[in-house]
Amino acid sequence: MKHLLGIDTLSPDEIQDILNRADYYARALVDGRWDRDKLKNKIVLTLFFESSTRTLTSFDIAAKRLGADVVNWNAELSSLKKDETFSDTIDTLSAMEPDCIIIRHSEYGAPNYIANRVNCPVVNAGDSWREHPSQALLDALTIIQEKDKLDGLTVAICGDVAHSRVASSNAKLLTKMGAHVRFVAPEFLMPQKLPVEGIECFDTLEEGIKDADVVMTLRIQKERMDRGSIPSDAAYFNNYGLTLERLAFAKKNALVMHPGPMNRGVEIADEVADDPTRSLMKKQVANGIPTRMAILDMVMGG
Ligand code: NCD
Repeated sequence: MKHLLGIDTLSPDEIQDILNRADYYARALVDGRWDRDKLKNKIVLTLFFESSTRTLTSFDIAAKRLGADVVNWNAELSSLKKDETFSDTIDTLSAMEPDCIIIRHSEYGAPNYIANRVNCPVVNAGDSWREHPSQALLDALTIIQEKDKLDGLTVAICGDVAHSRVASSNAKLLTKMGAHVRFVAPEFLMPQKLPVEGIECFDTLEEGIKDADVVMTLRIQKERMDRGSIPSDAAYFNNYGLTLERLAFAKKNALVMHPGPMNRGVEIADEVADDPTRSLMKKQVANGIPTRMAILDMVMGG
């Protein structure tokens, strides 16, 4: 059974295979030529226990572009509200024999737990602060489209790194593919344990993004923090907000990425977010479709 549970279990060759397939679908979407029946008669079940705009919608669209049917299960309307246990809910849904389950959950390792209980491929759409593999893959595709490679690039991941599964999966993928990864965060937002060896850590934005090829900014994940430790938006922006003035410390042609949702005036200034030559955010969102087509194709299409 093929699952996509995280970047940590993928080899560089497996990552490259998914990226090649994602690149194929990105080109095919432009030409309008791909096998629209590739996943015909397959049923994809999405189980999102946390909010999502980009990830849920793009998995849904990706599955439909390949001819699959999608069932979006809704936690709020489910029997979890009638005190059914998580395991019983998973066993119940599994008994309906979906062809693939896509799960987002706040618990560490929830996708791995259900992969051991069900009889179909499981795709991790983000669990706790641990892994968000499809985001790291679509980010890698986006960087390669712009810079032609990952190997040798310096990527600075800035902001609330401690609570970010995006930072964790990106650090793993980029390191495996030969990029230099930096974490840039104030002490209270720097993870105590780094997800992978070889990451350089900085506590000021100016130093951390110096000569970087790519600057990736992150939202403060307030939902994973104690109220008392959340800084004011204005104070945070003063110290860590990515402005054009600060971006000048990075390489002249450095690109800016953000997985979204972004909080304007907190981790990023409007002038950077909306700069069409520097900001890759819309491209990242667009690349969510071919990347997730590649992932669904890989786990279900053979
Ligand atoms: C992120 C997530 O949910 O992990 N968003 C996304 O999937 N594009 C980041 C976040 O919520 O800040």
